[in-house]
Amino acid sequence: MKNIVILGSTGSIGTSSLDVITHLGEDFRVLGLSANNNTDLFLKQINLFKPKFAAVLNPESYEKIKDQIPPQTRLLPPEIDSLCFMVSLPTADLIINGVVGAVGFQPLVAAIKAGKTIALANKEPMVMAGKTLMTECERWQAAIIPVDSEPSAIFQCLAGMTGAHGYHKISDQISKVFLTASGGPFAKRKNSLSTVTPAEALNHPRWKMGKKITIDSATLMNKGFESIEIMNLFNLPEEKVQIVIHPQSIVHSAVEFYDGAILAQLGEPDMRVPIQYAITYPKRLPGPVKKLNLFEAAKLEFFEPDLDRFPCLDLALVAARRGGVYPSILSASDEIAVDAFLKEEIKFTDIAKLIYTVLKAAPQSSGVATLNQALEADAWAREAARICLTEKAYTKAII
Ligand SMILES: NC(=O)c1ccc[n+]([C@@H]2O[C@H](COP(=O)([O-])OP(=O)(O)OC[C@H]3O[C@@H](n4cnc5c(N)ncnc54)[C@H](OP(=O)(O)O)[C@@H]3O)[C@@H](O)[C@H]2O)c1
Repeated sequence: MKNIVILGSTGSIGTSSLDVITHLGEDFRVLGLSANNNTDLFLKQINLFKPKFAAVLNPESYEKIKDQIPPQTRLLPPEIDSLCFMVSLPTADLIINGVVGAVGFQPLVAAIKAGKTIALANKEPMVMAGKTLMTECERWQAAIIPVDSEPSAIFQCLAGMTGAHGYHKISDQISKVFLTASGGPFAKRKNSLSTVTPAEALNHPRWKMGKKITIDSATLMNKGFESIEIMNLFNLPEEKVQIVIHPQSIVHSAVEFYDGAILAQLGEPDMRVPIQYAITYPKRLPGPVKKLNLFEAAKLEFFEPDLDRFPCLDLALVAARRGGVYPSILSASDEIAVDAFLKEEIKFTDIAKLIYTVLKAAPQSSGVATLNQALEADAWAREAARICLTEKAYTKAII
């Protein structure tokens, strides 16, 4: 029996996780759920999965649902400590972190300090302070099993060699990692991207995901985040990470070893595969996902990314190279920029300009950021990005 806590149960990762758990049957039980705004779906989930604990971070959502919670579930106060409490429950065997953005940082740290196994979709904390988080995992004997499809693919290629606790210790056997990317909706678009609308950017050709990651995929910032995520998770230098545009999204990533062997993980682009693997690890059980037909997938293409057309990816790689709190500043300013684009306050091409302006204004930093430094930089960057937006300072950026 595995007792599972899901943070962000109403999101794309959260609902897919619940779908997987339903298919897996009674050996997998939902112990805790969290959401933010989607109270209708959250109430349905509570009634269906009967968790012992539930939490919503938005106080208005809390007021809306507090009198409708069935007796078997305890609704916790609308505060981040409630998420930290749920992930630390002694009876929790697995934490699925499927919230979006830096809000998942503190609950992730709490889960690590409680020595938990964490199925991690929420990549932003790994961007902000991934190296320190991996050190903390060792200290508290916690394990992170990546859920994001590309880091999961790399994890799956390595898991047979190391298990869930040691995969970051074998980077000396890896000569290169091929981090694949679909290229997003604009991979082949020749026209300027300045007139792209939120609806166009949200129309991802392969994956159905939450809004923020879908926009990050359109700007290729998502690939930049994943580059930083895998450098931190697998202890790899930038030179060992080769980003490859692969429009079919069949090869989810591959690892080349020093002897010349390449291991890749292939499959239909469906997040329920990496989610299920993280839930059932180290076992593989039957799941709800259609199997890949190799004859239908016969044509697989691979291209180099165009950093000039997608400056967000370039900015992410620069932030990774500079280290310190720059990745945290990158992540926070991207959250503000994507939100502003979705509200049609800025153009698609302004996303990179805003992030660049904030990164340029940041104080000098290098080395490995501590957890506190990463959080402080996140707060500083949000404030700086908001000022930049109000003053339209980003319009002067030439990148
Ligand atoms: N979706 C994918 O296929 C995919 C693939 C790889 C990695 N990821 C990563 O997984 C994470 C989740 O992505 P997603 O696509 O599932 O996002 P999503 O669909 O937007 O869902 C986000 C979830 O987090 C909750 N949430 C949002 N803001 C919150 C806040 N301030 N406090 C507490 N909870 C909050 C949402 O609650 P409400 O809905 O109730 O407001 C929802 O349950 C992201 O970090 C993303 O990069 C996603």
